[in-house]
Amino acid sequence: MTDAVLPGGFDTISDLRERAEKLLSPEVWAYVEGAAGEEFTVQDNHASFHRWRLRPRALAGIRAVDLRTTLLGASVASPVFVSPTAYQGLVHPAAEVGTARGAGSSGVLAMFSTLSTRSLEEIASATPSGPRWFQLYLQREFRVTRGLVERAEKAGYSALVLTVDAPVLGPRDRQTRDGVAIRSPVPIGNGSEVLSPARAPELRSGLYEFPADASFTWEILAQLREVTRLPLVVKGILTAEDARRAVDGGARAVVVSNHGGRQLDGAMTGLEALPEVAAAVGGRAEVYMDGGVRRGSDVLIALALGARGVGIGRPVLWALAVGGEAGVSRLLSLLNTELAVSMMLAGRRSIAEVDSSLLWPHPDPDKVPSLRNF
Ligand code: GLV
Repeated sequence: MTDAVLPGGFDTISDLRERAEKLLSPEVWAYVEGAAGEEFTVQDNHASFHRWRLRPRALAGIRAVDLRTTLLGASVASPVFVSPTAYQGLVHPAAEVGTARGAGSSGVLAMFSTLSTRSLEEIASATPSGPRWFQLYLQREFRVTRGLVERAEKAGYSALVLTVDAPVLGPRDRQTRDGVAIRSPVPIGNGSEVLSPARAPELRSGLYEFPADASFTWEILAQLREVTRLPLVVKGILTAEDARRAVDGGARAVVVSNHGGRQLDGAMTGLEALPEVAAAVGGRAEVYMDGGVRRGSDVLIALALGARGVGIGRPVLWALAVGGEAGVSRLLSLLNTELAVSMMLAGRRSIAEVDSSLLWPHPDPDKVPSLRNF
């Protein structure tokens, strides 16, 4: 590992979390770390990785590992991607521009939220060549949704990531208790027409209304396909039934995700749902996952269970808070190095060589302790 340690830098991902917590205000930390309800699902997101064991291979003669792959045809340095997260300007002034540059210089795909603090055009011009996808929240008026889609297409985003798991906002107890959301209005880079929960007065009074329209059905996929040539990625899938609906509706990829545990507390984790979704999709679309990924070995487990891409959310916010753009590239370098080392120890030279024969189910998953406070 040749990377210089950043000023105020970090050597491990758990260091990073502690440093970020010290830097951020309690309200912002409550927003970043908080999840739905009693936060069972968010804790399980990481714990579910501990229910799998990796089968190491000895004397495999592997001196170098190739992490390169493609995500919807885009060449990337590794299967790790940056999941979309809102309001990055709350954690660092470089906001989404810092994330875009950190990911772009690492050759890693990044997805940017409709609820970004910088405009989607500004983010795009920060990394003209970086693989970059736009996460779409459906707006109450299709005219506004369509405007966002057209802007994303014009600015050079190469896919639309439609989030389908947030017709209403999950009950965010921690935010209500410790953060009472974010009291001052959060600037929305994509314009005043874009509806955001942090702007909704309802949220401050403890209601959980996402200011979108909860009446959307799967027909929205056809409606979106009429207004864009960008490939559709559907994010927030946890069941075979929904995976089939998404692919039948023209999705080119699905992201198996429970929205960082922020929506339905008690929902299964992305890792738990991954085999079911991968089987239902059956190669008709690409399958990605996110939720609880904190180590290179977690990435390897997700790949072995059928993910082609593996997203990280909160750690990117921690890294941005601690080191801006350099923090994000440091995090990605740590994760990719760990992934490469894990692959060497598991006897796999390339992503194509990773399959389920690498895994051994824990004999007593109920007894797996969740050791790390990630
Ligand atoms: C926004 O997507 C959030 O989960 O807060």
